[in-house]
Amino acid sequence: MQRPDFLQKAIISHQLSKEEIVQLLGNPQYDQALFTAADEVRQKFVGDEVHLRGLIEFSNICKNNCLYCGLRRDNLKLKRYRMSPEEIVALARRAVKDFGFKTIVMQSGEDLWFTPERLKPILAEIKKLDVAITLSIGEKSFEEYKAYKEAGADRYLIRIETTDKDLYHRLDPGMSWDERKECLVNLGKLGYEVGSGIMVGLPGQTLESIADDLLFLQDMQIDMAGIGPFIPHPDTPLKDEKGRAFELSLRTMAIMRLLLPDINIPATTAMETLHPEGRIIALQCGANVIMPNVTEGEYRQLYELYPGKAALNETPLHSKTSIGARIEAIGRKIGTGYGSHKKL
Ligand code: 5AD
Ligand code: SF4
Repeated sequence: MQRPDFLQKAIISHQLSKEEIVQLLGNPQYDQALFTAADEVRQKFVGDEVHLRGLIEFSNICKNNCLYCGLRRDNLKLKRYRMSPEEIVALARRAVKDFGFKTIVMQSGEDLWFTPERLKPILAEIKKLDVAITLSIGEKSFEEYKAYKEAGADRYLIRIETTDKDLYHRLDPGMSWDERKECLVNLGKLGYEVGSGIMVGLPGQTLESIADDLLFLQDMQIDMAGIGPFIPHPDTPLKDEKGRAFELSLRTMAIMRLLLPDINIPATTAMETLHPEGRIIALQCGANVIMPNVTEGEYRQLYELYPGKAALNETPLHSKTSIGARIEAIGRKIGTGYGSHKKL
């Protein structure tokens, strides 16, 4: 299909109206034009390198009760774990020394055991490995974020999930959308590279609302955007909802690349869960990052945000060889540096 005018313009201006975004989200006939446009913009602004981040899921304990998430506190079926500081550092060491990751992503539920007093020495220890550290541990105070920054954290991931406040408050009982946004603002003030993002295909979410999300993320000038399909989890209140919006997630991600041309965009695990080549497809529709899971042993299966995720039987070794080969097979190469977002 020929590229429509407004898409051709967006490649240069990185602007799209809400109506244009809704058009792109709702019309499969634009897919080819959209995906090739996003791929071109990705190539031009961030090149062919695919940055790998080693993901450590160090605790599945969470005080929150998000309706969509398998780690929600009311899910009593889930066996909970919390790695010891030594285990976390050992996994990080292996990810760096044996597998060559240049970024370690430390993710957990909102587990109050990890206070600055406990987490700072872990960060300091990992920092000695000469890696970039990304934290993804939820909503904390300005002071706590500051403490982690000083201890060596460079980046922080906290998805806004949706900018539809009513939807957010329905799905995240007891939480406040304004406070979550404040977290993004605080992280930016503290000099973190800030990652955010959304889920696509949430019950009650409209195309208009996804368009608002994209414009919000653009407006916030975030450094990274994780966009993945919502996948219903059987042990949550949303178990009978539809979700699984693979194509719509891809479109959303591709539009994000047009709006924020030089940021880091991961090909998300949720996309791979819905399609055997989901991440490779995403890399060809605007993404430039993959976050292989380096969590080992029983813990891997227990970090079940959504079903099917744990079944990705991928070891750190597998990540470097099989994913590496697949990246090269599509004419890309594995990033050699830290893969930071350098704001233009
Ligand atoms: N399906 C897809 N993504 C999910 N997340 C949580 N639960 C689900 C689900 N059921 C995502 C949220 C969260 C991130 C860590 O995982 O966006 O921010
Ligand atoms: Fe906890 Fe995050 Fe899951 Fe919400 S999405 S229940 S905050 S782990």
